[in-house]
Amino acid sequence: RTPDGALDLPTRLRRNRRADWSRRLVRENQVTVDDLIWPIFLIDGERRREAVSAMPGVERLTVDEAVRDVEMAAKLRIPAIALFPYTDPALRDAQGSEAENPDNLVCTALRAFKAAVPEIGLITDVALDPYTSHGHDGLMAGERILNDATVAALVRQALTQAEAGADVIAPSDMMDGRVGAIRGALDDAGRADVQIMSYAAKYASAFYGPFRDAIGTRKALIGDKKTYQMDPANSDEALREAELDVAEGADMLMVKPGMPYLDIVWRLKERFRMPTYAYQVSGEYAMIRAAADNGWIDGDAAMFESLMAFKRAGADGVLTYFAPAVARRLQAGG
Ligand code: PBG
Repeated sequence: RTPDGALDLPTRLRRNRRADWSRRLVRENQVTVDDLIWPIFLIDGERRREAVSAMPGVERLTVDEAVRDVEMAAKLRIPAIALFPYTDPALRDAQGSEAENPDNLVCTALRAFKAAVPEIGLITDVALDPYTSHGHDGLMAGERILNDATVAALVRQALTQAEAGADVIAPSDMMDGRVGAIRGALDDAGRADVQIMSYAAKYASAFYGPFRDAIGTRKALIGDKKTYQMDPANSDEALREAELDVAEGADMLMVKPGMPYLDIVWRLKERFRMPTYAYQVSGEYAMIRAAADNGWIDGDAAMFESLMAFKRAGADGVLTYFAPAVARRLQAGG
């Protein structure tokens, strides 16, 4: 202690926090527009926008409406969007055959986006769930989800998407061996430049609820996805999943959900040093929006804090339904 009673501390961490200029100077991470991937929902028809229940501010868009939103996203400099279709139940069957239709909603949207907004990256989800009558990501035999037969179907789905203009194929199905099979098929089809962002560690999560409403699979889904998506209790297993995907040719890794799995983001980034992304999923968005809309938290601040947490954990980017809101705020100067 000094004579005037002050503590004799060689280090006072509060010194660097004293002023805004100093806090900015010592800041370790930044959220920029280049970190954003915007997932969008598509519906058939024209000039229609439908609200998604449980995701205030998120809509399903017909392709013509979506083109305008994608143009807006490109103007905001959002690097890429991820496409998710709401498929007419009449088009769903046990095989998910609509996934291979070159004129399905996703392929139609890909062609429209490529023509109108060639500068934005187009990421497509590879999994059968938007197209199956049972709501599963794979083919079924009785109660079982077939792995290898599903991989063959996913390869055909991926080729269909690449043909229609997908820049990045993002397998979210969690079948074993799908990344290698898709990589090989893309290369054989002369599409060696199409990237693969693998949902390397995708957990069987309760946080996907609002998404399943958005694409209309919640009521359809028979049982759960625990025989292919990961157990939330496991973390070493995420490293094994990622290791296989890297060996099979993945260009980028993803962890999903996001906020409850920041430890997984960190471990994958530390181990593989790959471009690593987190998916802030529908339930995470819904929680922040619901609390904000009730006046219980500051929505904008929580949105930015959550994105900063992904960056701090080592993510190179985030799939987030907040993308346009964040981009607008960043453009306006934070
Ligand atoms: C389906 C898929 C899901 C999500 C993305 N792709 C849901 C699921 O696995 O049931 C969830 C995204 C979200 O909740 O925002 N293959």
